[in-house]
Amino acid sequence: MRKTAGEAERIQLRRLFGVSGARLRAMIGAFHGEMRRGLAGEPGSLQMLPAYVDIPTGLERGTFLALDLGGTNVRVLWVELPGDGSSPTLVEDQFQLSREQIASEGKLLFGAIARFIGRFLGERNLSGRLPLGFTFSFAIRQRSIARGELIAWTKGWTAEGVVGRDVVELLNAALGEEGVPGVRVVSLNNDTTGTLMALAFLDADCDAGCILGTGTNICYRERTAEIRKPTGPYDREFMVVNMESGNFNASLPRNRYDVLLDGASENLGSQAEEKMVSGKYLGELARLVVADLCGRGLMFGGRLPEIFAARGKFGSEHLSEIEADETPAADEARARLEDWGIRPADGDDSRFLRDIARLISGRAARIAAAALAATVTKNDPALDRPHVIAVDGSVFHKYPRFRARMEETFGELYRDRADRLWLASMQDGSGFGAAIIAAATIGSSGGAVSGFREKPDF
Ligand code: GLC
Repeated sequence: MRKTAGEAERIQLRRLFGVSGARLRAMIGAFHGEMRRGLAGEPGSLQMLPAYVDIPTGLERGTFLALDLGGTNVRVLWVELPGDGSSPTLVEDQFQLSREQIASEGKLLFGAIARFIGRFLGERNLSGRLPLGFTFSFAIRQRSIARGELIAWTKGWTAEGVVGRDVVELLNAALGEEGVPGVRVVSLNNDTTGTLMALAFLDADCDAGCILGTGTNICYRERTAEIRKPTGPYDREFMVVNMESGNFNASLPRNRYDVLLDGASENLGSQAEEKMVSGKYLGELARLVVADLCGRGLMFGGRLPEIFAARGKFGSEHLSEIEADETPAADEARARLEDWGIRPADGDDSRFLRDIARLISGRAARIAAAALAATVTKNDPALDRPHVIAVDGSVFHKYPRFRARMEETFGELYRDRADRLWLASMQDGSGFGAAIIAAATIGSSGGAVSGFREKPDF
């Protein structure tokens, strides 16, 4: 007779993926320790990278280009900041990078981007000197706002010849080679910083930025005096710090599937938290669980369906489709399985897969919430003030109930003070944020655009 996953396996999985309140508190304590170590320049899992920028005044003005690079979608924006509190004008276009462009040669990658910027300008008849703010969604070591070396690729990117190099220089060189004159990169920032800036432009209580998408990371506003490791020149009282929190690895409830996932990843031993929380990995974790259970004859009659057979086929979007099904018998999940070629799908399998999805995403949401809570409580342990956290990313915006589960976790941790942690959705803010940083960098004069007198008709 065919075996199905029994109660014992379900309990075992719940144990493997469960995160107790005590564990969350331990994580938060460990996170504070890692933050302090990183700020002091001591070895640890949080790099605490100075971003050389503070939140904007909201009065920044001028005309800027922004480049948002970090997912396979590259976005270019033309941004006009009026500087008087009225709404900015944004024009945006995007293109898809190929696997080859992100995984072979840096020259290929930056060349493609420069050509796209050239086309963006050409199609709109824009010319003249245009300052560009560059959002680069990876760990960069900056000594000023206008330069930064890539420390390491994450999220499966592997283009050669970029690690250790100044990405501003690489982009400027590509713009020169591709014949895109007049565009000058004036500032560089992480996507978390861009997202924080975009929301802080509107709301002065915003003091942290978070991405929960393909990758995950948090930045926050820190007193400059707290950054005790050597930094480049910077004279303001506060500075944004990019924590690279996806690399956090202290006191995480890792299980054997996490170890398996890490072992087959492009960045072995790194990004432990990211590998438990972000969109690049949630589907893969589920696939590893399913492959294991199936190998033990406990799912799919012991025959592993194609979609679970190899790394990369079963993505987080598939997992979220399974979890979106709230019918008691998981009928919709079963229909999805049939869409994916599993015929006839068994009701037990679809219910079990949905349970697995809930466990994996539930753990992710709790860990993501704890990381944010830790960020904010380092400087405000009793949550005496409200904190607005600008959040972007596909997991946060699209994964069923992800945000709700994060908020439930805040409630569990801080009870009646939980609403001092406010998750504010900031969709696609990181490009706009780069334009604000560019404006803050070059002062209020802004960039002069020639080639048209009136606002162009986009
Ligand atoms: C990865 C990158 C980090 C980025 C995050 C979200 O963790 O290392 O810099 O902010 O993904 O895109």
